[in-house]
Parts: sequence; structure tokens; C-alpha cells
Amino acid sequence: MTKNISVPFGTMSVTEDAKKLVAELLESGRLSSGKYVRRFEEEYAQLIGTKEAVALSSGTDADILALAVLYDYGAKRGDEVIIPALSFVATGNAVLHAGFKPVFVDVELETLNINPNKIEEVITEKTRAIMPVHLMGKPAEMDKIMAIAIKHKLFVIEDAAEAHGSIYKGRNVGTIGDMAAYSLYVAHMISTIEGGVVTTDNQEYAEILRSLRSHGRSCNCKSCVINKGEATCAKRFKNGNDIRFIFQRIGYSSKMNELEAAIGLGNIKVWPTYLARRRENFLYLSEQFKKFSSHLLTIHEEKHETIGPHAFPIIVRKGSEFSRDQLSKYLSNNGIDSRNMFLSMPTQCPGFSFLGYMLGRFPNAEYIGQQGLHIGIHQDIGLKECDYIIMIFERFISNYVKNNSK
Ligand SMILES: Cc1ncc(COP(=O)(O)O)c(C=O)c1O
Repeated sequence: MTKNISVPFGTMSVTEDAKKLVAELLESGRLSSGKYVRRFEEEYAQLIGTKEAVALSSGTDADILALAVLYDYGAKRGDEVIIPALSFVATGNAVLHAGFKPVFVDVELETLNINPNKIEEVITEKTRAIMPVHLMGKPAEMDKIMAIAIKHKLFVIEDAAEAHGSIYKGRNVGTIGDMAAYSLYVAHMISTIEGGVVTTDNQEYAEILRSLRSHGRSCNCKSCVINKGEATCAKRFKNGNDIRFIFQRIGYSSKMNELEAAIGLGNIKVWPTYLARRRENFLYLSEQFKKFSSHLLTIHEEKHETIGPHAFPIIVRKGSEFSRDQLSKYLSNNGIDSRNMFLSMPTQCPGFSFLGYMLGRFPNAEYIGQQGLHIGIHQDIGLKECDYIIMIFERFISNYVKNNSK
């Protein structure tokens, strides 16, 4: 009898340096967005390889604010943004919260990502942007997406919430579109507990994002020292007006605070080790899972890409003797935490029903929504846990195949 090993879905790390910094900050009394947020932004931009990074309070806000930038470039409320039908629901919510209409495209079963060959079918006069998602860290087909965007003069905002460290044809994911939105939530590879960030090479977009995150103020420079009488920004008073109280656009309240930045700075330091561990787990599991390929689908790393793994997706194939729910119950009984895969937002999430999409419209997304799950492959598990996972899957599948061939 094999001893059960516990395989949690995710873990959160707070480094010793971060703990020290948090304690110092609590003593200092300066906790709202300030110099540590700025330092976090600089280090994050360097890590991704963009000129700018704007820290925000969540990955959802990162999606929303990146989209809201488009209003400065002629977009109108009610214009359309193309997104994959399958993603974490935040992607669809963000489009609606930004004031746009989400237009969905089915995903591919093999990549879980938007099918680039179906994007042009849904482009209309109102389309302003494509927002591909690099689901589970697998890069979306960016060459095709960028070519379509250039042809139709559309913005591309990468939802890179799950793709820290992913590379597409030699370029870091998050540096390919006009902007990229990341989540820094606990389950993600670089975390500030709650948090998000938008990266971009365009300084003007970054300035608009800084304005948007702070209620749409005119004040948008990188380094202004605010709310401190002794160090007021020289640009603050323009023609006698306090630009912090001129609200230039419809804004949000989405700033990151200093404590979150401190945790994030600690996690940026350990990130290369986490990425290496996750990649080792991912590559090992995805290779081993080939032997289950008549029953299960997962993603694989192709030559042109490097996957920065978020979690390990598993989809029960059509015609299998067992269902996702039977599998997840078996995993849970054996100490392996799993989560159902995301749903087809337009047809499986009731909140989107007002958009009028009918079930059956996005067959791949809907299939993954019904028969997909994901398990953790994070930095706190290693090859021992991966071998245990494989052994449990072998046992589960052979039990089902045996019972069904009787
Ligand atoms: C693809 C995707 N987009 C957006 C988000 C939203 O991020 P947050 O939870 O930080 O708001 C997530 C979160 O997990 C995500 O997976």
C-alpha cells in the first residue's frame, strides 16, 4: 500500500526579506502607494523586458485599466473587444467593467487558447482590440494575432495573468502586444498576495494607466511624492490649479500599497528558482502524461515556446470510460487537490447570459468547462510528488479500464 502524499493546489511565499520590510513599513506609517511600489514597478519592468510597468490592486484591474486606456485613442463605450470563450471569468468581467462588449471566439483543445483562425470572422466596425489569454502559461499564437491586429488596426492587450516567464518565438510574453496584464494573486508565480500590473513599452499608455488607477487624475508622473507637505511634486500646481484635483478621465481606485509591493519585491528575488522548479515539474508531467493520451489531454511545450507554468491542466477525452468529476473525486481521496478548469464564459457562466449566446456555440470551451480540471505544479512540490501523481493516475485509469472490459 502506497503512503498518501499531499499535493496542494497552491502555496504562497513571503520571503524573510519581505517580512523584515513589512515590519519596517508598518513602523514608518507610510503604507499607501509610494517608493516601494515604484521600486516594484521598476524591477517588474526589467524582469519582463518592457520600459514601463504600472502596479495595480488586482489582475482584473490590470485587464480593465489596460482596456480603459483605449478611450484616449478614440474607442467609445459599447465598442467590441475579442477574447477567448474560455478563460478565468475575470477576462470577460474586465471587458464589461471597462465599458466594452466582449465578443468571444472558441479555443483550441490542444492549446486551450483562442483559435486565431476564427478571429477575423467576428471583427466588425466596432472592434477595437483583441485580448488573447496565455492560459496556464501556454503562449497564445501571437504571430497570427498580431498580423490580424495590424491588418484591422486593432490594439492587442495580452492577458498574461498566468504567464510569468513564458516565451513565444524568442520574445517574452507580455512584450508582444501593446500592453499586457498580469495577476499577482496568491496562486500566481510572482505574488503580492492581491495585486496586478500592466506592462508596456509605450510611455503615454503608462501615464494614462497611472491616471486611471488614481481616479482619473491629471497627475500621472512616475515619481511624484504625494500627500507629504515637505515634498510636493513641482508639477503639481499648474496655472494655480492643483492637478491632483483635476479629473481628466473616468478613473478607478486601483493602486497597490507598500506592503503588497514589499511582498512582491521579495518574490521577484526568488522567482527564478520558482520558475525553474515549476518548469521541471511541468516538463516531467507533460512527458509522462503522454502514456495517458488515449484518455486524457494536456498541454505540451512546442519548439517555438517556453511555458511559464501556472498549473497543470488535464482534460478527459471524449469517449473515456470516466468523467472529470469521477477523476477529481479520486484525486481528492488520494490527497491531490484539483480545481475544475475554467468555463465557457458566454455559455456556461450565468452572469453572461444577457449577451444572448446559446449553449453549443463554443464547443471546445464548453467541453473543457465540463471535462477539464487542473492540479498544482508549483514550487513547493517536486519530482517525488509528480511521481505520486502519475502513480495515482495509472491506478485510476487501470481500475476504470479493467471494470469496463469485464
Ligand atoms: C487569465 C486570468 N485573467 C485575469 C485574472 C484576474 O486576476 P486577479 O485574480 O488578480 O484579479 C486571472 C486570475 O487568476 C486569470 O487567471
